[in-house]
Amino acid sequence: MMTKLISIKDAPKYVDQEVKMHVWLTDKRSSGKIMFLQFRDGTAFFQAVLLKKNVSEELFEQAKNLRQEASLYVTGTINKDERSHFGYELQISDFQVVTNNDGYPIGNKEHGIDFLLDHRHLWLRSKRPFAIMKIRNVAFKAIVDYFEDNGFIKFDAPILMHSAPEGTTELFHIEYFNSDAYLSQSGQLYGEVGAHAFSKIFTFGPTFRAEESKTRRHLTEFWMMEPEMAWMHQDESLEIQEGLLKFVTKRILDNCEYELSILGRDPEKLRPTTEGNFARLSYDEAVKMLQDAGRDFKWGDDFGAPDEAFISEQYDRPVFILNYPTAIKPFYMKKNPENPLEYLCADVLAPEGYGEIIGGSEREEDYDTLKAQIEEAGLDLKDYEWYLDLRKYGSVPHSGFGIGFERFLGWICKLDHIREAIPFPRLINRLEP
Ligand code: 4AD
Ligand code: MG
Repeated sequence: MMTKLISIKDAPKYVDQEVKMHVWLTDKRSSGKIMFLQFRDGTAFFQAVLLKKNVSEELFEQAKNLRQEASLYVTGTINKDERSHFGYELQISDFQVVTNNDGYPIGNKEHGIDFLLDHRHLWLRSKRPFAIMKIRNVAFKAIVDYFEDNGFIKFDAPILMHSAPEGTTELFHIEYFNSDAYLSQSGQLYGEVGAHAFSKIFTFGPTFRAEESKTRRHLTEFWMMEPEMAWMHQDESLEIQEGLLKFVTKRILDNCEYELSILGRDPEKLRPTTEGNFARLSYDEAVKMLQDAGRDFKWGDDFGAPDEAFISEQYDRPVFILNYPTAIKPFYMKKNPENPLEYLCADVLAPEGYGEIIGGSEREEDYDTLKAQIEEAGLDLKDYEWYLDLRKYGSVPHSGFGIGFERFLGWICKLDHIREAIPFPRLINRLEP
């Protein structure tokens, strides 16, 4: 019988059977006649045991010379072992070295963050980034599933833009042949086009902001999903946001127990989110909450990171902040008919001090009102003719939101800094590797 090639995640199906694996060495320790080899195979980290009596002298000597990140074909038997996370380890009977190397820069000791970021191309192989990227992948699939299950289609917005949806201060400018272009800050305006063609759409792509500030939650390149729904008011959009966060968090709890344990992330802290019933505070109530706590905050100001952290620490699950003053939000939002000083909009703040992960609103659907708002924002009407066309022909109430994917992951994984949530972070002072 041919020995089967398996991954460690499938080990439970092969107890006491001989299997083959493709692995990299992460660590090793030996005591005379026995050697413990720590491997990773891309699905998990696990331990293999090599007994001197099971292999030739030559092979045992070869094993002694293996260095971190050596790559091997191994053959062995899956044994039950309570000490390993999976409850299994590999008892090696044979192996073949593909490459051996010396001087792998990332050891099993502590390294400084700058060193690790400089070696991101290698650091991604380590346990912590491994766990975060696996969770990222599960979250991505869950978000797509949620939207597809709810009748949305994926609709791609362009990355090269000639105008700015979220204000002009954080734009990356590029030369575009003999004219100017900008990198997308948001796909929303194109998402609105999609909603009028397909009713419910979501975009998912990279977005760019020339953030000058060094903070724990700003990347200059980040990924955003932006659903946009025709025939939908703000209240229904909030239901979708809550449903999405519940669904994706549950999927992660159900599928990423191993990865969360690598991160030392307590799953119970995420459990309340899967139950829903997110609190809904108005902007005014949030301001009062800050002021009652003795914080220096004036009505009309935008919340800074510490303000959002304070508010979100009061809850064990995400919280909505509704209806911000018009002066601190972008031009496309719809004014609250009951109070024209505020927009029908909402941000979602993640708990445990993480702050904003979603921003969204109902959109202004009336042609003349929107035109006036574009002019008031000091934007060039010429750039928005196509966008105004959506209000000229078949205009309907519509709403949408954007979820910052790395912000979401930062909270789920309880990261100190958003840079760990993306394979290759782009920050004000980092474009490499
Ligand atoms: O609140 P923002 O600016 O909203 C929009 O872009 C809307 N067009 C969304 C929409 O309604 N379709 O950004 C949305 C989300 C924020 O809530 C935050 O999670 C994330 O994008 N975000 C960032 N994430 C990482 N780095 C940055 N510099 C970010 N800026 C915003
Ligand atoms: Mg925002």
